[in-house]
Amino acid sequence: MTLEQILSEYQAKTPASKEAFIRATENIAGGVSANIKYFDPYPIFMKEGKGAWLTDLDNNKYVDYVLSYGPLILGHGREEIVDTMNEHLKEHSTMLYGTPHVLEAEFAETIKKYYPSIESLRYTNSGTEATLFSIRLAYAYTGKYKIAKFEGHYHGGYNQVLVSVNPNVSEAGDIHHPTPLPESAGLEPDQLENTIVLPFNDLEACREILTAHKDEVAAVIMEPVIAGYIPATKEFMQGIRSLTSELGILMIIDEVKTGFRITMGGAQSYYDVKPDLTAMGKVIGAGLPVGIVGGKKEIMMKTAPLMGSDVFDMSNSGKSSAKDVLFHSGTYNGHPLILSMGLKTLEILNNELPAAIERTTRLKNAIQEFYASHGIHVVMPGIGTMFNIAITDLDEIKNYRDMQTCDFTLRKKMDYALLLEGVYNKPGNRYNLSTAHTDDVIDFTMECYKKAFKKM
Ligand SMILES: Cc1ncc(COP(=O)(O)O)c(C=O)c1O
Repeated sequence: MTLEQILSEYQAKTPASKEAFIRATENIAGGVSANIKYFDPYPIFMKEGKGAWLTDLDNNKYVDYVLSYGPLILGHGREEIVDTMNEHLKEHSTMLYGTPHVLEAEFAETIKKYYPSIESLRYTNSGTEATLFSIRLAYAYTGKYKIAKFEGHYHGGYNQVLVSVNPNVSEAGDIHHPTPLPESAGLEPDQLENTIVLPFNDLEACREILTAHKDEVAAVIMEPVIAGYIPATKEFMQGIRSLTSELGILMIIDEVKTGFRITMGGAQSYYDVKPDLTAMGKVIGAGLPVGIVGGKKEIMMKTAPLMGSDVFDMSNSGKSSAKDVLFHSGTYNGHPLILSMGLKTLEILNNELPAAIERTTRLKNAIQEFYASHGIHVVMPGIGTMFNIAITDLDEIKNYRDMQTCDFTLRKKMDYALLLEGVYNKPGNRYNLSTAHTDDVIDFTMECYKKAFKKM
């Protein structure tokens, strides 16, 4: 079948999603609530999730490998998590106190147990807010106002980090000295100038660039595993740690994807590296919005009101040292319901993550063998419970540019064919697994691979 024929079968199978998308476009910009949720010709609208499965508006069932882009590590609607939510509401009767509450410290103690680099933390409402706040902390602590980020790394949807996330390689310059390129309309005119772009897994080039900019750069922010599937080498991670310490630059590890997904202690435990600051999100919220920034107490204390002021305290105006304290706030920060569900998630995951990682490896190997049996060489980058399928002539994927050598046309066609069989992924996206992706689910997936490939 051609891609056009596959897409026409897609439309025949999902008429209710098509109708829902037309309605959405009349009311919502572009028909989606986040740009990443769109794919051609229209995205599938889901109405129910249970375990590893999603059901769409037309009652088609799919194994879900998106898992809402990562958070649902226990799968959809895990009973203990739903019970925790109901019990929490029964016991406390309100959604929100607007005051401190004890779960904030209890949750923080759990996080600190798994992430010893975190001495103190603050809650946010998303991974985007967490990385944004980590950068503000770095500015406030160092008094420097540029950041260094890596080519191909994503840290959320705001201007400072929407630089060189998915650049066109032909415009991106020298592989060792990438040119900062905008990824969005609306960047301030000085954004590119204030963002230094680094090459991943290339320590020597990073040393050269960071040494030249050490007096301007507040922090290096990085995904330890690009896009959740291209891992740093251990030497590189440890090298960046030593280099940043040597140059007086903070190291921020963005564990929004990797936290509690590659090991319970995230990438920093896997690589044995202690960053100055860590940003987290996704898994820790059990599917509800949450984020954390934590790290060295000395840096985190920059935001402590004990040391300064509250910008809304009229009685304090004029006397306060507001300009010396990093103001951080949020109506929903440290949401009690979310923290109680997150805490339960981590308790369950502590027992179940190793088996989920084993099954992820089983699926990875099965897909690689499947392609090999059809004479197609693929590389399967990824660690823990995430991976991707790179149809490439290379033997290893080490950075963003290596990934650009892939045959995305074949990969996407296969992903659309898999959608018709009941395997849900946004075409071309990485695979995320959960504890609910049992051996049966993996066997089903591989049966779908056989059927989908026959169609192609
Ligand atoms: C590494 C990384 N950082 C930050 C973010 C932003 O998190 P959120 O979507 O919760 O705002 C994401 C989201 O995918 C991410 O993968």
